[in-house]
Amino acid sequence: MTGSSTVLPFKIEKNPNPLSAEKRADLLKNPGFGRVFTDHMAVVQWSAGKGWHDAVITARKPFEIDPASAVLHYGQEIFEGLKAYRAHDGRILLFRPEANAERFHNSAIRLAMPPLDKDVFLAAINELVKIDRNWIPETPDSSLYLRPFMFANEAFLGVHPANEYIFSVIASPVGSYFKSGSTKPVSVWLDTEFSRAGPGGTGEAKCGGNYASSLLAQINAEKNGCDQVLFLDVVERKWIEELGGMNVCFVMDDNRLVTPKLDGTILHGVTRKSILQLAKDNGMKVEERSYSFDDLKKDAKSGHLKEVFACGTAAVITPIGVFKYEGGETVIGNGNGGEITQNLREQLIHIQKGEAKDPYGWVKTVKID
Ligand SMILES: Cc1ncc(COP(=O)(O)O)c(C=O)c1O
Repeated sequence: MTGSSTVLPFKIEKNPNPLSAEKRADLLKNPGFGRVFTDHMAVVQWSAGKGWHDAVITARKPFEIDPASAVLHYGQEIFEGLKAYRAHDGRILLFRPEANAERFHNSAIRLAMPPLDKDVFLAAINELVKIDRNWIPETPDSSLYLRPFMFANEAFLGVHPANEYIFSVIASPVGSYFKSGSTKPVSVWLDTEFSRAGPGGTGEAKCGGNYASSLLAQINAEKNGCDQVLFLDVVERKWIEELGGMNVCFVMDDNRLVTPKLDGTILHGVTRKSILQLAKDNGMKVEERSYSFDDLKKDAKSGHLKEVFACGTAAVITPIGVFKYEGGETVIGNGNGGEITQNLREQLIHIQKGEAKDPYGWVKTVKID
């Protein structure tokens, strides 16, 4: 990892009132997911004519934005999610941060926002993790979740790409995404009422709007006793796409791993991409292709479909035990997850934490000095 970006130096303004070590230690014991935040944030400004400027690491505080700010009206906003881990040898590790930088770049282009130099994205993360490194929890299953984001900040009510933006990174110590932990199987609700994304839309961009439009479906899932929602394609309402906040993979009884192909409507998950590589290395046949919910039901019944798991930065790899839908449910295997899911999960976590060989150079060490 580079420290300060070569194209834009970060000014460091230390928080004059950081949380006491005692209070921090208390929060780190059981941080939950996304509710506890560190002492600092990274902020970089963009304006037409000036480009990206004024990069700073500063005390975490609210933004002051104009009520006419474009993001509040037209939703020009994108974000990313990645984690920093503390290795046994004391190093602080990031998992494939360049992949997040690249996806952020692509999301910016799709939302007509100014792409951020990948070097600046990576430097902002490095500098924030460096200054807030005491906030990395060390209990198993926990890490420092990093949330880079960008929003339109011009006070203008015309429907038009804004002329001012803010890029920022905040950090949040986290435990498991699911309350039940990330090894216990979760339940998934098949949504047939709402859509998350359609052809030509923003499905493969990581923008706030995609998540806003998934929330009603997520409420339905919860009303039906499920942890997550599964979306089908909007054209035939037949093909499995992804969950509200994770990709999905299917383990067959003939050593195949099947996952929906990237066709513009689903997110290019960094975890998904990494798992497909690990599965290939383990000798599995990987198929990125369409898979219908009808086939899922049939294959689960016949035993051809052995395991299903959700994958993403927040969830890591979490087994799916059951799919529920109007009028029924389909249990996967014995409903308790399976060996292949567990092995892939352990393999991935060991690489992420610097405990296993990293043949593809996925893990990057945060530069402290
Ligand atoms: C809709 C959606 N799909 C998939 C993913 C998984 O992506 P990644 O593995 O890069 O975290 C996420 C999580 O960020 C997501 O929000």
